[in-house]
Amino acid sequence: MQSRQTVHAVLLPLLSVLLLGVILAITELGEYTLTRPVAIAEHGAAIRGWEYVDGFPEKIAVFQTVFWEPRDTNSLRELIETTDLVHGKIVLEIGTGSGLVSLCCLRHGARRVVATDVNPNAVENARYNANMLDVASRLDVRLVSTNTPSAFEVLDPDEKFDVIVSNPPWENAQPRTIAEYALYDRDFELLRSILSGARSRLNPGGRLLLAYGCRDAIETLERLATVYELRVERHDRRSLHDLPEVFIPGMLLEIVPQVGRF
Ligand SMILES: C[S@@+](CC[C@H](N)C(=O)[O-])C[C@H]1O[C@@H](n2cnc3c(N)ncnc32)[C@H](O)[C@@H]1O
Repeated sequence: MQSRQTVHAVLLPLLSVLLLGVILAITELGEYTLTRPVAIAEHGAAIRGWEYVDGFPEKIAVFQTVFWEPRDTNSLRELIETTDLVHGKIVLEIGTGSGLVSLCCLRHGARRVVATDVNPNAVENARYNANMLDVASRLDVRLVSTNTPSAFEVLDPDEKFDVIVSNPPWENAQPRTIAEYALYDRDFELLRSILSGARSRLNPGGRLLLAYGCRDAIETLERLATVYELRVERHDRRSLHDLPEVFIPGMLLEIVPQVGRF
């Protein structure tokens, strides 16, 4: 009798706790509930998932409707991580999504980053990840209106940068949902606005780097660049002609003036 009471009073609660521990350890639930903040952001957008990326100390959050394909920017992030490209610099990222590239800049010495996006969830997502990685004080994320979506719309008139980076939407089509703004740039309007404004938005010696994995977009970029007396340097060993129309990882492309430097 005595021993049965002992089992009920001591062993059963102990076993329950152990069982719960095992369940939490072998399911993602444990990660979400024990080590992560509440999975609902302030504005109500649910976090879609947690993703691990090389070079980051912990998984980063990806909100619903926000773009996620880190291979697009493998070579851009490698350049940021292995050179002094952004060290001590003021950076603009156009179309930040989860904030991945901006966070990479901040973790590799950028003094300050301004990041933009048309997707309100992306704006919250980038801020959320910046808070989690403790770099939020150097990141300024701004929402671009889909009514006035050109590249530099949300900047102050005299705001300039040392480095501008972007993994813009790659394909020429009309986005129908906010999520599709990550994929489609109708008539390459965003790209045109990046090229037309780059000179006035870069400090002397500034750099403009884009990640693209679409042949049409890269050929359009190379054609349009000449209109603005710019040219494109491909930082990639692959030949465009050997690649499918849309490919991953994306190509790292640097836009430079035809003559001299920015
Ligand atoms: C291909 S995704 C890249 C996201 C992120 N930089 C990354 O590499 O994971 C393109 C992003 O640009 C945003 N975007 C589309 N049009 C935009 C515009 N006119 N201004 C700012 N952001 C825009 C999309 O919402 C999307 O987040």
